[in-house]
Amino acid sequence: MKFFIDTANLDQIREAQALGILDGVTTNPSLMAKEGITGEANILKHYVDICNIVEGDVSAEVIATDFDGMVKEGEALAMLHEQIVVKIPMIKDGIKACKYFSEKGIRTNVTLIFSVGQALLAAKAGATYMSPFIGRLDDISTDGLGLIADIRLIYDNYGYETQILAASVRHTMHIIDCAKIGADVMTGPLSAIEGLMKHPLTDSGLAKFLADYQKGN
Ligand code: G3P
Repeated sequence: MKFFIDTANLDQIREAQALGILDGVTTNPSLMAKEGITGEANILKHYVDICNIVEGDVSAEVIATDFDGMVKEGEALAMLHEQIVVKIPMIKDGIKACKYFSEKGIRTNVTLIFSVGQALLAAKAGATYMSPFIGRLDDISTDGLGLIADIRLIYDNYGYETQILAASVRHTMHIIDCAKIGADVMTGPLSAIEGLMKHPLTDSGLAKFLADYQKGN
């Protein structure tokens, strides 16, 4: 499973990159705003800064919601850097734009997926990635991980190559469960990724090894 970090915070991206396990970055307008990155020029520069830190794919989201606007913005984003993947919302014109980009060889990430029907359309439109938001489904007492499992089944039935990018991952167990189901990618916060390292028996075992070493030296 590929590991993406879901943030626009450059320090956290650098920290995840330094771990050596990072495969890419996802951002969205809310994550940009959280870092105080506003205005088109600053946002575009920030995408390039992110691309210069990581080696993998970096999702950059269009703001337009009409076909022509999405195509114009998406083409400009794709020209910014070879690592950029154009992120498009799961709406009618978004599906049209996804098909357009797919035919042009521009990579896409269809975002805000909350149902298997939407997932099926994203694959039919040739999306490179599609992002089901599991945490937000859990928030409304529905089954985010169940959606990932259903999409995996459907994509495998037909051999769709669109990658399932489990998004809105909130904690470490989401990552483990996505891996069990067979999501192609997960994107989550640094805290959820770092949680994978933690085990009390590792900490107590290491403490004992070090204490025993000290006794003999
Ligand atoms: O990857 C999508 C993500 O940014 C949304 O996460 O936590 O706002 O639902 P969240």
